[in-house]
Formats: sequence, structure tokens, C-alpha cells
Amino acid sequence: MVELNTENCIKCKKCEQICPVSGININENTINTDCIECHHCGAICQYHSINQQNTIGNNTQNNIQPFDFELLMQQRRTHRIFSAQAVAPEVLKEFIEHMRFSPTASNLQSLKFTVITNKSVLNEINILTIRTLTKAFNTVNSITRPLIRLFSGTRALNKMEQSKRKFLNKAELKHDMICYNAPALIVIHSEKSPVGMPCHDANIWTGMATLYAELLNLCTCINGYIVNAAKRNKKIKQLMHIPAEEEIYGTILIGYPKTKFEKRVQRKMPSISFISE
Ligand SMILES: Cc1cc2nc3c(=O)[nH]c(=O)nc-3n(C[C@H](O)[C@H](O)[C@H](O)COP(=O)(O)O)c2cc1C
Repeated sequence: MVELNTENCIKCKKCEQICPVSGININENTINTDCIECHHCGAICQYHSINQQNTIGNNTQNNIQPFDFELLMQQRRTHRIFSAQAVAPEVLKEFIEHMRFSPTASNLQSLKFTVITNKSVLNEINILTIRTLTKAFNTVNSITRPLIRLFSGTRALNKMEQSKRKFLNKAELKHDMICYNAPALIVIHSEKSPVGMPCHDANIWTGMATLYAELLNLCTCINGYIVNAAKRNKKIKQLMHIPAEEEIYGTILIGYPKTKFEKRVQRKMPSISFISE
């Protein structure tokens, strides 16, 4: 809980300015009930005038240079060839615990994590995801094609046909095409919430996790196919022991790399617009 300690307060009002919900009134010495407990107020206050129970240390000089981060981003790649080496449960637990500083909308911190390392469960997820998505892709057929073209346009239909072709071809050739025999799958889920943005929180989490994993010599593959299949087939959630009323917002395969990427590759320059005047 956030509390004001007026004794040391010099009324600089930095806490009022930083508060994301405008919930602090220093003149009246109040914090209103909109407080989301992000502790921006306590973190910005030099005078210890806000309850400091949530503080875990003073900020120090950040020694990571921009170039280090640019290189990390360029060298991070999606891995699909995992070593058979298991990732120790304590490594996975610590990884997820350290990742708790990833931002969440309204500071909701509602994400939950299920870590699956059981080989037969992973295999079952692989099979069920292929089966579920094959069924979904096959709804694009000679009967639905004209309707899709009518309501969504030829371009959308062509894209759907292309995705279908790519998925079905790969499923035919590569039976581990979903889980790639990775030793662990982290499933990110949460209760459905009328407030906050858990889906975005999960996506930001996975993005940051890919970079953090790289620094720990782990490798990752964000997996959208499993998320998609779990929306269509409730057996997938059951396999993961995730309650029906919760939603799966992200999944990420994690393990040690069997091979390494030798080169960094170029990316398209982004389209950038400024509105300055
Ligand atoms: C939201 C999201 C979902 C993804 N889903 C899958 C997936 O289901 N299966 C897969 O093999 N790769 C998946 N990927 C990985 C992308 O295919 C990968 O990022 C892309 O090929 C570019 O490679 P890179 O990450 O090495 O730059 C996903 C990536 C993102 C960001």
C-alpha cells in the first residue's frame, strides 16, 4: 500500500506529476483509491516521503551501451533446432521471476506462467495443435472461397490460401513443426479481465524474454500457433492444466541451442512518418 509521510516532504510535487492516475494531492496530503500501486511516486521521491516498503534498491548507473543493445537485438534469432539438454527447473523458475519487471498495462501484473517440460505432454500439444489448425485451415475450401472473396477481398483470400498451403506442406514434412522437440514450453495465461491488456502484456513479456534468454545462452521460439489452436480446442488448455475461464495469451519454447547463427542479417528499413507542424 502507498502512504504519504509528510514529515520529510518538501512539496516538490514530483510524485503528483509522475502519478499515472493523478491520484496524489500533496496539499491535501491524500492518495485516492485509483492508485495502481506502481510506486512511481516512491521511486521518484528523494526525501523518503512515500512509504518505501516496495523499494528494492537505489538505481545505479546503467553500463549497457546502446551498441550492446543493438547487437543483442540483431543477434537474437528465433531458434528451431534445440539441443536435447534439459533446462533445469530452477533456471526456468528464476528466469520467469526475473522477468516480472516486464511492464503491464495499469500495472495489473495478472500474468500467470505454466512451464511444461514433460515430453509426452509437449508431444501431445504438438499433435493437437497440428490437428486443430489443419481443421481450421481446411475451412478455406471450394464452398467458402467465394464468400471469403466477397466479404474480405481477393487479397485476403490469397493470403489465407498461402498460409494454408505453407502450414499443410510443413505439417506433412516436419512432424515436430510446432514444438520442435524443445525441452520446455512456457505458457503465459491470465484470467480474462475487463480492465488492462493482458494480451499485450504477454506479447511484451515474450519479446523481452527472447532478449534475456539470449544473454543466458538460452534460445527461444515465440509460438503463435499454440495460442491460436488453444482458442479453438479446449483439450489443449486441459492438457496444460489451465482453467477453462482463463485465456492463453502467449507461448514460448525455450531451451539450449544445438546450432548457432554465424551471421547477422539485414532487415527492411521501417516506414517512418513525422507529424511535426
Ligand atoms: C507473435 C509471434 C508469433 C510467432 N509464432 C511462431 C510459431 O507459431 N511458430 C514458429 O516457428 N515461429 C513463430 N514465430 C517466430 C517468427 O516466425 C520469427 O520471428 C520470424 O521467422 C523472424 O525470425 P527471427 O525471430 O529470427 O528474426 C512467431 C513470432 C512472433 C513475434
